[in-house]
Amino acid sequence: MPARGGSFAGGAGAWLDRQHGLRNVVRQELVGRQLAEELAAHFQGAGALRVLDVGCGQAVQALRLARAGHLVTGLDADPVTLGAAQAALAAEPPEVRERVRLLSGDGHQCGRWFRPGSFDLVLCHGVLMYLPDPDPLIASLARMVASGGLLSLVARNRDALAMRAGLTGDWRAALQAFDTDHYADRLGLTARADRLADLATTLTEVAVPLRNWYGVRVFTDAAADHAPLPVDGRQLAQLLDAEERAGREDPYRRVAGLLHLVGAK
Ligand SMILES: C[S@@+](CC[C@H](N)C(=O)[O-])C[C@H]1O[C@@H](n2cnc3c(N)ncnc32)[C@H](O)[C@@H]1O
Repeated sequence: MPARGGSFAGGAGAWLDRQHGLRNVVRQELVGRQLAEELAAHFQGAGALRVLDVGCGQAVQALRLARAGHLVTGLDADPVTLGAAQAALAAEPPEVRERVRLLSGDGHQCGRWFRPGSFDLVLCHGVLMYLPDPDPLIASLARMVASGGLLSLVARNRDALAMRAGLTGDWRAALQAFDTDHYADRLGLTARADRLADLATTLTEVAVPLRNWYGVRVFTDAAADHAPLPVDGRQLAQLLDAEERAGREDPYRRVAGLLHLVGAK
């Protein structure tokens, strides 16, 4: 049994290397679509939002939101992924560049740099699985959310942790996955998964109760690391639409590889 998960350290190179593979393209596109839907429904075209993206990584969602006109602060603890974010930002047109700032730091310490309630939307995607306990970071993020704002979390789905191993025929790992909250991720790191009900309880406790949730990667979570995108653009569009549909409907979303939770303050 691997040691309990607790850090992204050493994972940055492998993470960046996989950005254009099928699994990551599906993940970013699905999260982007789900976020756009939540923003449209919740803010109803209220104009430019103040956004904080904690653990922004290579800034895919941060840039997407900046292109849509929002004012985005990206925060990340790893110099390698932050460097990739800076390079991606440098390739954007000036009007997008001026809406983004990228900062180095640990999300647990948000309160050192920002006043409580400074952001309309706080994102934390793909970070909680690298922490031994998600609750302190969620509490820190919740303090940053303005009244009426949203908190968006993407976490590994512990309720369906055996799915990936089972679908790839790794029966030993599948059996172990029923009784544990940790797993060996694709980056070679020991990581940790969360249950939907536990995260929902935490969100209620920090006064940002769950508003909606989605599954991310129902059909493609078990794809190979470097599985390419379908060459036919129409097939890719259908794949993404099928994932989007499954991500919002029971029972499919419950067995997704990742959970996307949106809480509202
Ligand atoms: C798997 S990547 C996800 C990147 C991006 N959010 C995405 O969804 O594509 C995890 C990122 O979280 C960052 N990270 C991990 N723990 C962090 C912490 N406590 N504070 C800030 N960033 C953190 C890592 O450096 C890494 O860039």
